[in-house]
Amino acid sequence: MRIIIAKDYKEMGKKAANMIASQIILKPESVVGFATGETPVGMYKELVNLYKLGSLETGKITTFNLDEYYGLSQDNPQSYAYYMHENLFKHIHIESSRIHLPDGMSTDIEIECARYEEKIYKAGGIDLQVLGIGRNGHIGFNEPDVKFEARTHMVELDQDTIAANARFFPSMKEVPKQAISMGIKTIMGARKILLLAAGIEKASAIYDAIYGKITPELPASILQLHPDVTMILEEKAASLLT
Ligand code: F6R
Repeated sequence: MRIIIAKDYKEMGKKAANMIASQIILKPESVVGFATGETPVGMYKELVNLYKLGSLETGKITTFNLDEYYGLSQDNPQSYAYYMHENLFKHIHIESSRIHLPDGMSTDIEIECARYEEKIYKAGGIDLQVLGIGRNGHIGFNEPDVKFEARTHMVELDQDTIAANARFFPSMKEVPKQAISMGIKTIMGARKILLLAAGIEKASAIYDAIYGKITPELPASILQLHPDVTMILEEKAASLLT
């Protein structure tokens, strides 16, 4: 595991964007797994900057997002599909057929999850998967006590996650309680993993993910077993490591 400490949020985003850019430049047809939430917003900005400077051609990449809220359609401003469009896809060259997120409006979840896994498989697997981390150590929406062997599936969000996500919604009752998420097995199948974390509230989860017991109680602890993980941590998120 490589751990890179960035002096602030902006530097974290820059370093992360550089790593994604290098992946795409060295393999233009890369399959990239993306995450949403507050943490990677700066990274997407930096990636868009690199694209606008002409340093990056994105037309051949294929993307798969980690997760989507259940019950939100793509045009709902709180959906992750909308987030990705606003933060990245509308700014770069990429055909919509190359963009994949679980369908939060699907009426047959099992079929939807199997379809998502098949698409990842047919694309050749994920070259580089970007992750954030929850305060409770979740990755994707794989909450504590997850089954490590699960692939894409429907998840019940933890109370802590619902509370954390509430900041993006007008009221608590609108915060979705369920999501479709890649499973730990899907994430661990990525050839490279890039995890970002910022803020003191992530420090304990980061410490446990790196030094703690490998346990479903802290889903990110499984990353200790992945052969190619880079963590780019803003100083406060890394503050318990030294
Ligand atoms: C988002 C995702 C989540 C977030 C995590 C951290 O696609 O899968 O695991 O990465 O909840 O969210 P933020 O960055 O908002 O603190």
